[in-house]
Parts: sequence; structure tokens; C-alpha cells
Amino acid sequence: MVKDLWYAILSSNEVPKNKLVGVIRMGVKLAFWRDQSGQVNCIEDKCCHRGASLSSGKLVDNHVQCPFHGFIYDGSGKVKVIPANGKSQEPADTYRVTSYLVQEEQGLIFIWWSDQKEKVTPLEFFEDLKQDFYYSQFQRVWDTHFTRCIENQMDVVHVPFVHHNTIGKGNKTIVYGPKVKWENRKLTWYVMNVEDTGKNKAKSASEMPGEDYFSLQIIMPNIWQNIITEKLRVFAAFAPIDDEHTMIYLRYYQSFMKVWGIRHFILWAGAQFSKVILNQDHRVVMTQIPKYTYAKMGEKLIPGDRPIAEFRRKMEQLNKEKE
Ligand code: FES
Ligand SMILES: [Fe+2]
Repeated sequence: MVKDLWYAILSSNEVPKNKLVGVIRMGVKLAFWRDQSGQVNCIEDKCCHRGASLSSGKLVDNHVQCPFHGFIYDGSGKVKVIPANGKSQEPADTYRVTSYLVQEEQGLIFIWWSDQKEKVTPLEFFEDLKQDFYYSQFQRVWDTHFTRCIENQMDVVHVPFVHHNTIGKGNKTIVYGPKVKWENRKLTWYVMNVEDTGKNKAKSASEMPGEDYFSLQIIMPNIWQNIITEKLRVFAAFAPIDDEHTMIYLRYYQSFMKVWGIRHFILWAGAQFSKVILNQDHRVVMTQIPKYTYAKMGEKLIPGDRPIAEFRRKMEQLNKEKE
């Protein structure tokens, strides 16, 4: 997993107040809890003493107590008390576990995946989703790396095949573009799919006619949105569990209906439809090998795969910047 990036890894409602939560994310066992002010803490879920799971322990004030020999940890991962040594004896600084910076945004929990907290950069989110929208959310585990999951949502070529009887109806197999635009870590791509008449062919980004395209976006490394209209979006966060598993948090967003009952019905129906679409994707993505992607991995991409190529290139670039 590329370091020095904010990764969306949990939904805020998975870490309620007064609860210690143990999950695997980024291939590591992590423990989460909220302090009195509601701020989420995240430390490695493995006691530095003899390896017990801290998330099986308990919360004592704003701290976590290991269930085995009672070591007490603060949110920075430092051991504050070793009961067998006596409360009055301050433990040495070496008694600690790794902790991660945490930020919450729009009902998602992000961690700064890095060895260097001082290198932290501002968390980016889709600014347009911060206002006026309502959303419904569901989650799914996919047995593959998050790169395969997010690339599936960047894939504009698969739609008439995988979704031939839903969003890809009409056999529009030819891909115009896509045009791509980077703004810092946000990639936007514009695309149009048309039917193959036997006489037409794909157009490059510079030949694309008009202005009226579908656009989609990602913010590196793992959040995505499909801008169906100004007021209707599908959003997903692809939280890496480990190298072969990803938790997908999928949301259906709308801002055109504010009336309570109708609004809820639309959000519910949108989520049901999104489940159908995601299941269609799942069937194919589960067959892809290898289970993770990287630049120059040898796959024979085509012009329509431009967003995927951009994603791989950016991942490589971000990775290199760490070296
Ligand atoms: S293993 Fe945690 S206190 Fe001993
Ligand atoms: Fe799809």
C-alpha cells in the first residue's frame, strides 16, 4: 500500500462512542475508539508486551487496557501504566505501539498511512458532496486488492458488456475519449459511449465532439464518485483490508428531493439498484489475476482505459516520491 496518503478505511458509524473496535485494514490489525470529545483514535491492535489483542480489552477513561496483564495505552500508542510495576512508576518510552493520525470527513474515517506523521498533508474530499446531499450507504467485502476494485469503477469500456441489461443497455461499445484532467490528487474523466454502426470508430480525447459527457472522479488513492447529474451521485470508498480483500462502502447521493418519506424511498431504491450493478461487476472482477495492479504490469491497455492507466501511473509516481 502506497504510504504518505490518507486512506478512507471505515464508516464513522462503525466506531460508536464507548466502544473498542478491532478491524483489519491495510493488512494490519488496528484498534479504534473515540475519546470523550468524539475524536477517533487508532493504534495497532497488538500489545507490545506479549502480543494480545488490545481491542479485546476495555476502555478506561480515554485509554485502552490490554486484557492480558492490564497495560494501559493512550491514543498515541504509549503505555501509561504497567500494573505489575505499580501506578507510580512511569513506563519507559519504548513501551508503545504504532498509532495513526485519524480524520473524519462526511461520515468516513480516514487514516494517514505513513511512518512520518509530520509529513501529513490536508485530507481531500469531493467538495461538491459536502453540501445539500442526502445519502444511503451499504457495504460489501470483495476478495481482491483495492486497486482492482477502484479500477473497475474507472473502467468505461466494460459497461455495455458487464451491464448489458442495466446501465449498459443499447450496445454502445465504442468509447470516445476519455478526456482526463488532474487537479492535485483528483482525477476527472469525461466519456461518451456510442453504438458501433460498422462505419464509425473510436475518437481520441481531442476529437471528442461537444461538451456533454458523463464525468467521473477519483481522489487518490481510494475514493470515487460518478457524477450522474449535478444532484445525483454514486460514491464509493474502497478500504483496503489486506492484499486480497477490500471493504467497499457504497453510497447513493441525491439532493433533488428533500421531503422526508420520499427522500428515504429514493435513497433506498438507489441503494437497491446500486447493489444490482455492483453484483454484476463483482462476478467479473473476482476472476481477474493478479489480484492487484501496478504500472507496467504487462496488461495490454487500450485508449479507452486511459483513466486506469492514469491511476496506475499516479500510484507509481506517489510511491516513487516516498523513496
Ligand atoms: S500482553 Fe498485553 S499486557 Fe501483557
Ligand atoms: Fe461496472
